[in-house]
Amino acid sequence: MRLGIVVSDPEDWTAKSLARAFSDLGAESTILNLSKLCATIGGDLAFREGANDLLSLDCLIVRDMGRGPPQEVAFRFQALTSLQDAGQMIVNPPEAILRAANKFSTTVALQRAGVPTLQTTVTSSLDEAVTAVERYGKAVSKPLFGYKGRDLALIEAEDTTPLERILARSGVIYLQEFIGSARPRDIRAFVVGDDLVGAIYRVAPPGEWISNLARGGSAEICPITDEIEDLAVRASRAVGTLYSGVDLLETPEGPKVIEVNGTPSGKGIFSALAIDVGKRIAREVASLLSQT
Ligand SMILES: Nc1ncnc2c1ncn2[C@@H]1O[C@H](COP(=O)(O)OP(=O)(O)O)[C@@H](O)[C@H]1O
Ligand SMILES: [Mg+2]
Repeated sequence: MRLGIVVSDPEDWTAKSLARAFSDLGAESTILNLSKLCATIGGDLAFREGANDLLSLDCLIVRDMGRGPPQEVAFRFQALTSLQDAGQMIVNPPEAILRAANKFSTTVALQRAGVPTLQTTVTSSLDEAVTAVERYGKAVSKPLFGYKGRDLALIEAEDTTPLERILARSGVIYLQEFIGSARPRDIRAFVVGDDLVGAIYRVAPPGEWISNLARGGSAEICPITDEIEDLAVRASRAVGTLYSGVDLLETPEGPKVIEVNGTPSGKGIFSALAIDVGKRIAREVASLLSQT
């Protein structure tokens, strides 16, 4: 079994955990940085990263795609899709990474699969945006391709002026009903295959409502209930991921899913629970490869 681990930072905790886990299974793995990707067309179609011929690998595990201008990101996705079309196993599948990266397509997938999610409006129309905020009372605006709690805004019906600025900058706005709480926190559930391997609460710093660890949130053990397990696994399946970090908020009607991360870090779960997700992912990939 020869694996490629796609990651932009070779020191990344999760990539190292995966490399260790594959080595424990007796498999060889190579770290691949897609900023060095080269596709050659004419004669055979080939995809190389340095001296590594990607098509010769049994599977690529995507830990992170790297960031860059839209053309570069599109090239990377297209390359992964072409490798998948050529029969290579890609985990997570590129279409699932794309669906998870886009909060609009994630929310649509959750709704379609009957997974409870929050009321959400996505529009380019200022009038529609104002109407949505008035309906929700308080709304959270999120970038469609946002991450790590960045660029979120709380908008209240009494003052919808920020909507204009956001629309002028982004051209489209994603607005979601705000779930208030005296001690804001969310649940990060880590799913591998059909299993919930661990869950943590992420508690927002005092006076804040955004609870991402990258924004100063602190991790606490979250007891796994059948309901959280069921929702997290169904959310992951709805988006098409083989491993994922599912974010849930507790609402008066029960937990609801707000997003599915298709390239999640396993570091937070390891620090809080000593669960090494790399081992679980490696086992899952080995089992899938043995079936092909
Ligand atoms: N609708 C909401 N109501 C209250 N808090 C929210 C809401 N949506 C997000 N949050 C808070 O903001 C954080 C980041 O939101 P999320 O949708 O997960 O985006 P990101 O991709 O940036 O992590 C959540 O973990 C939660 O703490
Ligand atoms: Mg999140």
